[in-house]
Amino acid sequence: MNLSMSRSALVSFEPTSQQNPTSDRLVQAPIIRLSEIMSAFSVALDVTQGHPQGHCMRSCLIGMRIAEVLKMSTADRSALFYALLLKDLGCSSNAAKIAHLFGGDDHQIKHSTRLIDWTDPRQCLGHCWTNCAPGGSTIEKLLKMAAIVRSGAEAGRKIAEIRCERGAEIARMLQLSEPTAQAILDLDEHWNGGGNPCKQKGEEISLLGRICGLAQCVEVYFTAFGLSSACEMATKRRGKWFDPALVDALLSFKNEAPFWAQLDSSQLMSEISRWEPEDVTLLADDTRLDRVSEAFARVVDAKSPWTYLHSTRVAEIAVGIANQFGCSSGFEQDIRRAGLLHDIGKLGVSNAILDKAGKPTDEEFAQIRRHAEYSYQILKQVPAFGELAEVAGGHHERLDGKGYHRGLAGAEISFATRILTVADVCEAMTAKRPYREALEWEQVQKILAKDAGKGVDPDCVAALQTWYEKHEHASRVDSQLEAVERLVAEL
Ligand SMILES: [Fe+2]
Ligand SMILES: [Fe+2]
Repeated sequence: MNLSMSRSALVSFEPTSQQNPTSDRLVQAPIIRLSEIMSAFSVALDVTQGHPQGHCMRSCLIGMRIAEVLKMSTADRSALFYALLLKDLGCSSNAAKIAHLFGGDDHQIKHSTRLIDWTDPRQCLGHCWTNCAPGGSTIEKLLKMAAIVRSGAEAGRKIAEIRCERGAEIARMLQLSEPTAQAILDLDEHWNGGGNPCKQKGEEISLLGRICGLAQCVEVYFTAFGLSSACEMATKRRGKWFDPALVDALLSFKNEAPFWAQLDSSQLMSEISRWEPEDVTLLADDTRLDRVSEAFARVVDAKSPWTYLHSTRVAEIAVGIANQFGCSSGFEQDIRRAGLLHDIGKLGVSNAILDKAGKPTDEEFAQIRRHAEYSYQILKQVPAFGELAEVAGGHHERLDGKGYHRGLAGAEISFATRILTVADVCEAMTAKRPYREALEWEQVQKILAKDAGKGVDPDCVAALQTWYEKHEHASRVDSQLEAVERLVAEL
C-alpha cells in the first residue's frame, strides 16, 4: 500500500457521506515481527509501573544474556524472550488498588517499591511513611499507614496475585506459550519462599520466572544507581530472593562493557529484535494484530474501574459508525484496532488523578490531556502501524482547532479520526465518572447535535445516531458499577 496516498486520502476527507475513502488501510503490512510490536507496547507497561522507558526491553536483554550463559534451549529462550518483554502485562490491574491503599501516585509507589528490600520491615516502614498520603498531614499519613498495617502481608500478596494472574491471562490471550504465562505468574516469587503470591520455594518456581525476577530487579538498580549497585544487590539477595546459580551467571558477564553499553542505547528496539531466537521468530499476522489490540485494550481498561470496557466499546461504536458509511471490512478492522488502542497513553496517567472522587484540578486535567500524545508516541514506535498512531493520537482533536494534542482543525482531521472522536465522546458520556453521573442517550444526542460542525463531524454524528437506534444497548453503568464493586471488595 502507498502510505502517502493513504495519508492524503484520509486527511483531506471532507465530511460528506458522498465520499468514501474506505478502501485505504491504516495498517501497512499483513505480516510483521511480533517482537517489533511488543517492544513498542512494553514502553506502555513501563510507564504504568512508573519505570523509566525501556525497563522491560533492558530487563529482556539482561535475562536473555543470562539464558545464553546457561545455554538454554531455543524453545525456552523464545518463551523467556516474551515473558521478559511482557512481564508487566498485569500491572494496570492493581494500579487503582495501590493508589487507594497509599492515597498517592501509583507510578511513584510502584517504582520506589522496586528500589527497596520490602522483606526488611525497617525499609518497608520507611517506604510506607514516604509514600502514604504524600503532602498530607501527619494524621492523614498515620491513618493510611494504620490501614496498610491492618491489611498487612495479605494486601501485598493480593496485589502481586492480581498483577501476576491478569498478566498470565493476557499472555495466553496473545497466544504466547504456557511457559511464558507461567513465568509471568512466578515473577515475584523468591528463592527462599518469601515472595508473592504463592510463597513458592527454590525449584518450585519455574526457571523462566526466576530469570525474570532477577532481571527486572537488576535492571531497576542498574538504571537508578549503575552496574556496581545492581551486582551488589544481586549478590546480597543471592539465595534469598534469587536462585544462586542465576546470580553466578549474571556476575559472569558483569565485566562485559559492550553488553552493558547496549542497555543505554537509544536503539533499544533494534537491539531487542536481535535477541529473539531466529529459528522461532514469532510473526504478527492479521489475527494476531487483532489479538494484540484486544489484549492491550484490556490492559488499558483495567487501569481504572471507571474506564472498564471503555476501549472495547469505543471500538464497537467506531465500527458501527464506519458501517453506516459503507466502509470496507479492511477499514472497519483498522478503525476497530484504533478504537481498542486509542487510550493506551492513559497508562501514563496516575490513578490518583483518574479515580479522583472530585473534579480534577486544572493541573490534573493537563496531565489527563497528555494521554492522547502518549498514545501517539507509543503507537508511532511500530512502523507497520502506519496511520493508526495518527488516528488514535488524534481522538481529542476538534474541527474548530480547540482540541488536543496538536490543535488540528477542519480538513487536517482525517475521516477515520472523526469517526473515532464521535465514538469516544459517545462512550464517555454514556459512562459514569467519579465526579458525574452517566448521561442518557437523549442527552448525548443533544450535546453531540450542538457540537456538530464545531467540535465533531456532523456526518459521523448522523451515522452514530442511525447505528445506535438500529441496535439494542446493554446498560453501560451496570458493568462499570460491577467493576467498581469488585475493586472495593478487593480493598
Ligand atoms: Fe482519550
Ligand atoms: Fe477514550
